[in-house]
Amino acid sequence: MVGTLRCYNCLVLFFCILIIAESCKKKSNPTPEPAATLQSTAPFPMGAAVNSPNLKNKAVYVGVLLTEYNSVTPDYEMKLNWVEPQQGVFNYADGDYIVNFATQHHMRFHGHNLIWHQALPDWVLNFQGDTSAWENLFKTHIESEAAHYKGEVASWDVVNEAIRDDNGALRNQDVNPGDGSIWRQHLGPDYIARAFQYAHEADPNALLFYNDYGQEWNGVKLDSIIALVTNLKNRGIPISGVGMQMHIDINTDPAGITAGLQKLAATGLKVHVSELDISVNPNNDPNIVFTTALQLTQASMYQFIAETYRATVPAAQQYGITTWEFSDADSWIPSFYNRIDWPLPFDANYKKKPAYFGLLKGLKY
Ligand code: XIL
Repeated sequence: MVGTLRCYNCLVLFFCILIIAESCKKKSNPTPEPAATLQSTAPFPMGAAVNSPNLKNKAVYVGVLLTEYNSVTPDYEMKLNWVEPQQGVFNYADGDYIVNFATQHHMRFHGHNLIWHQALPDWVLNFQGDTSAWENLFKTHIESEAAHYKGEVASWDVVNEAIRDDNGALRNQDVNPGDGSIWRQHLGPDYIARAFQYAHEADPNALLFYNDYGQEWNGVKLDSIIALVTNLKNRGIPISGVGMQMHIDINTDPAGITAGLQKLAATGLKVHVSELDISVNPNNDPNIVFTTALQLTQASMYQFIAETYRATVPAAQQYGITTWEFSDADSWIPSFYNRIDWPLPFDANYKKKPAYFGLLKGLKY
């Protein structure tokens, strides 16, 4: 009996020593929890549009990108005017730089874009030729670029912004000439399907997306996009997903965001929030101050988008959320719309804004 007790005491003592030793170890060698980042929190890839000059020259830019994101989209380096400035003369240097950067850092690469009615060089805008000459120009561009990046890009925005805002029809010879599409004018309404086929033939493993804006505020346009992609899918055209650009502002109706994501998810295709930014100065007020109230409104909108995306799009269809750049210093909005604005999760000094914390919260609700 006494022997058993003594043995029992010994055991207790042994465990006490073990516990004390363990706790001492923790104190002397604390291993802090790594801070949550966008990419470590999101259950899907977190992407950013990136530009090659900043990747080459700005350490703080590269630092934030590598910490927070695991997918990239080229901001402008793969658009037609950049890649094929003259007919048959291809300039892949800047796109290649971004692709190599992504490969080196094990990031997903989303190509943007093969066919768009904007970012066209003069030789395309002034091109004179019959239908077959136009088809040849179109096919050659798609096949050359898709073949050049074959095996290196995970996915492509094959056709960008083909639908009109006012009536959901295909852009063609629109009232405002800048809004028209030379592709539709010269190639007929089924050019979109052929763009996907040419891209697929050149790079059979790349996932192919239709990408457009306004799907959260324009129901007619949204329905037209749903009809377009459903038709492609039903015909066996190799389309894998739809990009909802989401260039929105703090007054965008959240109900439209939810409805857009729901309807896109119902197509069964992958859904990519492909160019997210949230403008705080949509009315172009030159005297606007980015008050705490505005910062918080923007933050809760970022949170809402991440939460709604997770709740609405089935996991297998979540291609990810991509912000269009990530710092206010690099946003396209101030120069494009000629106004001051602060649309992104990081401020102009690459510091996290309330918007960043809203997005992070929405990713892990
Ligand atoms: C923007 C780029 O960020 C700018 O650098 C360029 O001057 C204009 O285009 N929708 C798109 C993107 O699909 O390609 C656009 O990118 C933003 C709107």
